[in-house]
Amino acid sequence: MDKILDNAINEAVNLVREVSEYLLCDMDDKKVLTKSGDANFVTEIDLKVQEIMIKGLKEILPESNIIAEETNENDFTLGKYTWILDPVDGTTNLMYGYKYSCIALGLVVDGRPYAGIVYNPYLKELFTARKGEGAFVNGKPITVSDNKILENCLITIGTSPYDKGKADETFRITKNVFLKCRDIRRSGSAALDICNVAAGRTDGFYEMELRPWDYAAASVILEEAGGCITEWSGDKLSYIREHQAMATNGHIHFELKEVINSK
Ligand code: IPD
Ligand code: CA
Ligand code: CA
Repeated sequence: MDKILDNAINEAVNLVREVSEYLLCDMDDKKVLTKSGDANFVTEIDLKVQEIMIKGLKEILPESNIIAEETNENDFTLGKYTWILDPVDGTTNLMYGYKYSCIALGLVVDGRPYAGIVYNPYLKELFTARKGEGAFVNGKPITVSDNKILENCLITIGTSPYDKGKADETFRITKNVFLKCRDIRRSGSAALDICNVAAGRTDGFYEMELRPWDYAAASVILEEAGGCITEWSGDKLSYIREHQAMATNGHIHFELKEVINSK
């Protein structure tokens, strides 16, 4: 691999670990600022983590574009190097002290997803992957599950909580999936949901509306672990806009896609 990129990714991993300390601070510090909609919150922690991450990433790769959730002026183009950052994925969990959130950082190179870093400081689990080099949790290789039929599968879902207008469709689909799979879970962090598929802890995940920072980092980790992530139509994700996204161990991709798209 390109030496510059290799060093940049190693430095980014260290940065993510350091900054994750902010997620662990006292509940009293979690002052909530409402952004928009029913449940779309941003805390001072999201803003602080993002500020430090952006400063650090600019030093690591000065010529890179950074697409980050809490920025109003994102440039949604994929140049030579594009970082895609969710400073806190699982903000609602953070606000409630649910202890299941992460920092998610993806790197797209020349328009192609190249590296993913997802760190959950509560479990001290660092998921990493680089194109063609496999996926790891805390340095140990991970692979997707071997479950080949939906009936044997544990599926996580996202509820698209910031647009309650999607609820009827989300829960209609979820009833169909629930009746065909073993059981359903809802964690509150899409990035960790996708990493859990990568680690073989669950078999699939889907959500009606996911944004690039929710899926960019974890998608590389999942694909390097042998899994598959697409639009509900089966098309590729763009990394520059929202999608109806589904992530699986690969074996059940077609079956889950059929159930999601059935009436
Ligand atoms: C949210 C979480 C959640 C998912 C939402 C995301 P945030 O991200 O990933 O699980 O259902 O669609 O927006 O707001 O916590 O960064
Ligand atoms: Ca998110
Ligand atoms: Ca976020």
